[in-house]
Amino acid sequence: MRTSRFSLLIALVGLAALVPAVFAGGWAVATLDEIPAGVTAGQPFTVSFTMRQHGVQPANWGTVPLTFTHTESRQTVVVTAEAEGGSGYYTVAVTLPEAGTWEWLLGEGLVQPMPSVRVQAPALAAPASAAPPAGPPLALLVALAGLVSLGLGLVAALRTRRPWAAALTVGAALVAALGFAWPPAAPAASSGGEASAPADLGQALFLGKGCVMCHAHTAVSQVRRRTVGDFSSFSTGPDLSSFRASAEYLRLWLADPASVKPETQMPDLGLTAAEIEALIRFLNAGASAPASTAPAAACPVTPAVRAIPPDDPNADPFGDGPWLVNADRSLWAQWAGGWTASANGNKVIWIRPAGTSLQVAGRRLDGEAPPLRAEIPGGYGTGFQVSGLYFPASGCWSVTATAGDTQLEFVVAIP
Ligand code: HEC
Repeated sequence: MRTSRFSLLIALVGLAALVPAVFAGGWAVATLDEIPAGVTAGQPFTVSFTMRQHGVQPANWGTVPLTFTHTESRQTVVVTAEAEGGSGYYTVAVTLPEAGTWEWLLGEGLVQPMPSVRVQAPALAAPASAAPPAGPPLALLVALAGLVSLGLGLVAALRTRRPWAAALTVGAALVAALGFAWPPAAPAASSGGEASAPADLGQALFLGKGCVMCHAHTAVSQVRRRTVGDFSSFSTGPDLSSFRASAEYLRLWLADPASVKPETQMPDLGLTAAEIEALIRFLNAGASAPASTAPAAACPVTPAVRAIPPDDPNADPFGDGPWLVNADRSLWAQWAGGWTASANGNKVIWIRPAGTSLQVAGRRLDGEAPPLRAEIPGGYGTGFQVSGLYFPASGCWSVTATAGDTQLEFVVAIP
């Protein structure tokens, strides 16, 4: 009896120890201000970041350990970041003693994998950063010296007509040519060889901004398996491995998800425009190779976007489409996919400035065909309008819709 009570106690204590590890250490998303770059061994650099509880609300999270491991020597450096103020903002100075690549993790419990830091040796770093930009490059000096000697040689050759003068002229010409032809010095390799291709930068941001805590992606599956694993919660999002969307849509979404879907659990991570572009390239990388669509590839189809048009008193909420929509979001056409050239036509819902009259015209881009015919019944006094679109032939079609002084143009491939 005694022993079993004792083991129960042990089990309870063990559980109690586990719970804080999961709740206090666990579920937060860190968003780095910047991906560390240009780091030199032995010299401190600053890491600053925001912690968000459940990825949503910025919140202080006690002390947060940052664990750096050198990929070759396996040397480990742990620094502890403290909150500054009450809004989940942390900064900490880090010094990595050895050149090379350092992998690192942030937090404890459910740790967040971070993009590796390339650290350069101080001996290499010093001249690179201190190199005086002054003075013409050596090759140019050689070329100029060659030119001067060439001039002197020519003068001497003309005056003296001696063989040595001719030899000097030829030699000087060679030196000058060599000096000018010398390849210009390559610009010093970008500090520490940081991820600089936009898609690579996007992948680094996918980790450093915290997307990886809520989204699986094959490009980061290895590091994710070791850290986040199969963790999921109410606020984790879809696997983004094969997610593709137009840049226009992703710009809206990543800048402020709630502006697209008011109820979404995805946070506004305060990304800069440049960070958003890099993330878009990362998310859409490889999107340009849909193998089986040779004819469609020639047709510059307008991507539909997922977004929610304004509500309309005459219709149920429209949902997030996808929609074909113009830049100022004043004219929307629902893109249900599957439009055909059949005689039955295609039923299309539009959202336009309330009460304006909708006109739709279309012409085939890749061959001869009669124009698109649109049936647009009257009597829709609010924004909502239905129509029937009749494509007289398959092919690549350009469609122009106008309503009041708004316009929407798009291209569709009709099979
Ligand atoms: C706290 C968790 C969380 C974080 C952090 C997060 N997301 Fe999301 N994300 C979500 C959720 C939840 C959804 C599903 C949104 C919905 O449908 O409401 C989502 C959806 C998406 C979508 C799909 C949008 C659509 O229309 O289907 C993309 C793309 C995306 N996230 C990219 C990112 C990127 C890039 C980052 C990092 C910069 C990121 N997310 C960070 C939770 C998160």
